[in-house]
This record gives sequence, C-alpha cells and structure tokens, in this order.
Amino acid sequence: MSNTDKTFPVITIDGPAGSGKGTISQRVAEELGWHILDSGALYRLVAFAALERKIALETSDAEARLYELAKNLDVIFTPNEEQGIDILLEGKDVTEAIRSEQCGNTASRVAAFQSVRQALLERQRQFLKAPGLVADGRDMGTVVFPEAQLKIFLTASAEIRGERRLNQLKERGISANLRGLIRDIEERDARDMQRKDAPLVPADDAIIIDTSELSIDEVVNRVLEAYQKR
Ligand code: CDP
Repeated sequence: MSNTDKTFPVITIDGPAGSGKGTISQRVAEELGWHILDSGALYRLVAFAALERKIALETSDAEARLYELAKNLDVIFTPNEEQGIDILLEGKDVTEAIRSEQCGNTASRVAAFQSVRQALLERQRQFLKAPGLVADGRDMGTVVFPEAQLKIFLTASAEIRGERRLNQLKERGISANLRGLIRDIEERDARDMQRKDAPLVPADDAIIIDTSELSIDEVVNRVLEAYQKR
C-alpha cells in the first residue's frame, strides 16, 4: 500500500520555474491549514551538497555518489515565525543558500538522474499527514501522488517568469539580468521537459492555469474553488 492510499487529501501543484508554484502552494496550504511539500527544495539540497563536495556531474561515478547523497540527506524542515520554512542540512541553516540560481540550475541537472529521483520518492511521500498536503513540484501529480484529489498545473510565459524571478532576487538584495534569467529558465524548462524520467508535463487529469495575467489571490481562489467543486 502506498502512502497515497491513506485517506488524507492531497493537492498537487506542478509547473515550470517561476510559474508561481511556491507562493501559491504556501497560500493554499495556509488557507486549508494543511502541510506543504516543497519538493524542489529536496533537489536543491542534493545539488547544494554536490556542489559543496565538488562532485563533477559529468563523471561516470557521479550518479552513484548523488544517489548516496540523496538517500542519506540529513535534512530538517521547520516552520518559522514568518510563515516560511527553515531548512537545516546537517544542522546548518541553508534556507537562503539553496535558493541561488546556481543551485537551481544544478538541481535541474541532478534531477535528471533516475536514481536520485528514486532515492527521494519515499521521503516525499512521507510528507503526507493529516489533515492534508499541498505538494509543489514538477511530478507531484504524475509520479509522487498520482491519486491526488486535485491536480493543478501552473504556466506563464517565459518573459513573465523571468520578471518574477528577477523581483524575487531583488527582494533578497541580489541583482541579476533579465535576459540571462529568461535564458536560464528556458534552458531549465527544456531539460526538465525532455528528461526520460518524470519529465515536466501536466498529469492527464490536471487543471491547467495560465498565471501570466492573474494575481496571486486570483490563482489561490481558483485552486480553492476547484478543490471545493471536485
Ligand atoms: O523554484 P523553481 O521553480 O525555480 O525550482 P524548484 O521547484 O526549486 O526546483 C529546482 C529544480 O529541481 C527544477 O528545475 C527541477 O529540475 C527539479 N525538480 C524536479 O525535477 N522535480 C520536482 N518535483 C521538483 C523539482
């Protein structure tokens, strides 16, 4: 029996980089009083640990080393006072560090290894607890929680997603170049969509929401309405 056979409800929110998954998932989880899984953070953590250990991703033993890292990831997620989540890796606070563009890009390379995805699968399913879970990622509705009660797939144009990413970085005091960000996003999308294992695609039964012209509140309301109507 998989964890998704339990009676706790799951809403999956998948989509490409900058489509608003993180913000929307957090708001929906708050509204419902549910738990949240930021699956991208797990891939970012493996990437962070790989960068720290200077594992060259193109070498022949990289996959085996990454699998070991992913399997044994010593990570603690703790809700903080600002409604966010602090992430401790081997006791060290890496909440901010894993959000770098370098970590995001390395995460998408690390995420293409089938054994890394396998190593993280059960860990992700363990986030499902009462009263329910909002799961944010790329393959939440297709692979990790295929029996989810509601599946959402968020999209937005690459331009808009680049602008959102630029604003997120600005808020954290990091300057970046919009063209470069859009190029990175497009490269990452292509890699995520083309990989063999769990590529970035909407589940057959997902509701697709283009967020380009919508406010955060509008998207949150659509998700909550879809959950009530289902
Ligand atoms: O925040 P952003 O959308 O840029 O990225 P993220 O959700 O933190 O994920 C970083 C990378 O991890 C993505 O580009 C994917 O390659 C990978 N990922 C994945 O393969 N499967 C998931 N369920 C979540 C993330």
